[in-house]
Amino acid sequence: MMVPLDEANKLSFNRRISDGDTVIVYERHDSMRAVTVSPGSDLQNRFGVFKHSDWIGKPFGSKVFSTKGGFVFLLAPTPELWTLVLSHRTQILYLPDISFVVSYLELVPGCVVLESGTGSGSLSTSLARAVAPSGHLFTFDFHEQRASSARTDFERNGLSNLITVSVRDIQGEGFPKEHEGCVDAVFLDLPQPWLAVPSASRCLKPDAVLCSFSPCIEQVQHTCETLRSSFTDIRTFEVLVRSYEIKEHRFAKSVSEEDGSPVGPPPQKRKQSTLPANKSEQAESNFSVMAKPCSTARGHTGYLTFARLTVLSK
Ligand SMILES: C[S@@+](CC[C@H](N)C(=O)[O-])C[C@H]1O[C@@H](n2cnc3c(N)ncnc32)[C@H](O)[C@@H]1O
Repeated sequence: MMVPLDEANKLSFNRRISDGDTVIVYERHDSMRAVTVSPGSDLQNRFGVFKHSDWIGKPFGSKVFSTKGGFVFLLAPTPELWTLVLSHRTQILYLPDISFVVSYLELVPGCVVLESGTGSGSLSTSLARAVAPSGHLFTFDFHEQRASSARTDFERNGLSNLITVSVRDIQGEGFPKEHEGCVDAVFLDLPQPWLAVPSASRCLKPDAVLCSFSPCIEQVQHTCETLRSSFTDIRTFEVLVRSYEIKEHRFAKSVSEEDGSPVGPPPQKRKQSTLPANKSEQAESNFSVMAKPCSTARGHTGYLTFARLTVLSK
């Protein structure tokens, strides 16, 4: 279950793996997959054969071994991990954008949120967890098969009580009337989001926030023009994250035959070490820490436009 609630709807992090659970089988940060635990099944990968029956009863996070001694980690499914393993039925939002959205929409437990389109449900799982256990996400997609696959994923991850998926053309019809005036946040990931803005503004409570994700700046301009009539604090962001590879290189301290100077990598800029004195000296002489931006860092995904519904004082 992606939001680990017990029978009393209280958060519980002391869970063990059971028959039917989804686990994230983690080999490396760039190699993991979701597996449904079934006692008669095996998982085969380059590290060998793993029997699911060996996993049952172990705490999430356990390191488990194959018949030939290889290992993987069995992680609890979280929205963050799910985003990395889900099947891409559409373009999806990734964590840098997702975390910004959840934060800027000011979501807290109990909030009611509207989303369209659902797409692959990458953002939906994080929205649902943010509003759990008493809030709700109503998500809409006009593509029946996508809506149905997302519903299946949410059931698999134990999110059915938190998310309702409906098939609806939000650009053409707007959000259902029943949501008018009672929604805490709206998120749009649509090709023409400005068409959904009037309906979104009728659904939002006063002072509540809308967010629209668009890959192209022309879409953003059009959305902002429409937002200006009933929203304030309109702001657009592009979230760019640079991840780093940190490697420690050990080198043999030897002396050059020509001039007697020590041979090794060029001196590195370093902060004062926090290692204990003797370890620090050892690190100074034998190790060098190399930090370089990852070549696989994701570039532009899209623009996030946020706006707050104005209250017309009488
Ligand atoms: C890029 S995907 C959304 C991805 C989603 N944010 C995620 O993180 O997985 C856009 C979705 O909007 C849906 N869509 C496009 N036009 C729509 C409309 N008029 N009404 C409802 N859904 C629509 C598409 O079917 C598609 O699934």
